[in-house]
Amino acid sequence: MSDAAFDELLEFVEDELAFATSHYNDSYLDRRVSSRMRRTQSETYATYLETLRNDPEEQTALLEAMSINVTGFFRNPDVWDGIREVLQRLTATNETVRVWSAACADGREPYSVSMLAHDDPEIDESSVSILGTDISEPALETARSGVYEESRTVDFADQLGYLDDYDAYVERDDRIFRIAPAVKRNVTFERHDLINDSPKTGFDLVICRNLFIYIDNEYKQSMLATIAQSLRQQGYLVIGKAETIPPNLKSAFTVRDARLRIYHRDTLETTSLTGEKPTSK
Ligand SMILES: C[S@@+](CC[C@H](N)C(=O)[O-])C[C@H]1O[C@@H](n2cnc3c(N)ncnc32)[C@H](O)[C@@H]1O
Repeated sequence: MSDAAFDELLEFVEDELAFATSHYNDSYLDRRVSSRMRRTQSETYATYLETLRNDPEEQTALLEAMSINVTGFFRNPDVWDGIREVLQRLTATNETVRVWSAACADGREPYSVSMLAHDDPEIDESSVSILGTDISEPALETARSGVYEESRTVDFADQLGYLDDYDAYVERDDRIFRIAPAVKRNVTFERHDLINDSPKTGFDLVICRNLFIYIDNEYKQSMLATIAQSLRQQGYLVIGKAETIPPNLKSAFTVRDARLRIYHRDTLETTSLTGEKPTSK
């Protein structure tokens, strides 16, 4: 395997296809490229690059393969027990509870929050507002529509089985599942890029799961700094079960549940978020 050829391939994808390969870690990129190489029977990165240069359809196929859009309703059910407890605690003590599902893909994560709020008698759903954001416009389009089609490999009924009875929250027509209007009402969507866009403010809970695993360390830090600044003091953060907080941001968070990756936002001093010393006046 030639690193130079791999780098040249990534350069082409970054410059000509406008996909920010530098944000992602090499092992993730290599897995995606290798799967396209198998499909196109390209033996080397160089031959695959040749195919890519000359075949617009392959360019689209590679971009699709590189976009990380795997998601689900109530993904990792045990984590949702933790999110349930956080929502119960927040709605017991706050008139309004603001939740941000950052990198929400096609919206199944923020809709899961809304369904949970409606379903749990200890959570006052009227106080909960949920913002779902993602970098991908096509994903947000599906999210806004709230209409999902089951495929052979995805079983929505199984995913929604986290709730005892989900009939009130989705309308089902064979393989099409539509989110019920009452569940949609608590959720809004907008585009937000966690690397390049500004932090938000005052969130009580940020859920950002299964994105950091793909991201280069340097960008992971800046994404988490953006999230930390978007949380109010003592606000909660939930990250993916296979993800960790980078060492230089650990002081910004207290662990609430190590296994479920639930944290508290500790201090609002921006020094602990950037590692930079404050500038003296
Ligand atoms: C694997 S999905 C995770 C979806 C959901 N959070 C979950 O755990 O099921 C990762 C999402 O991150 C989005 N994404 C990638 N880069 C991003 C960025 N810089 N800012 C915001 N979202 C991004 C992708 O478009 C994709 O929808």
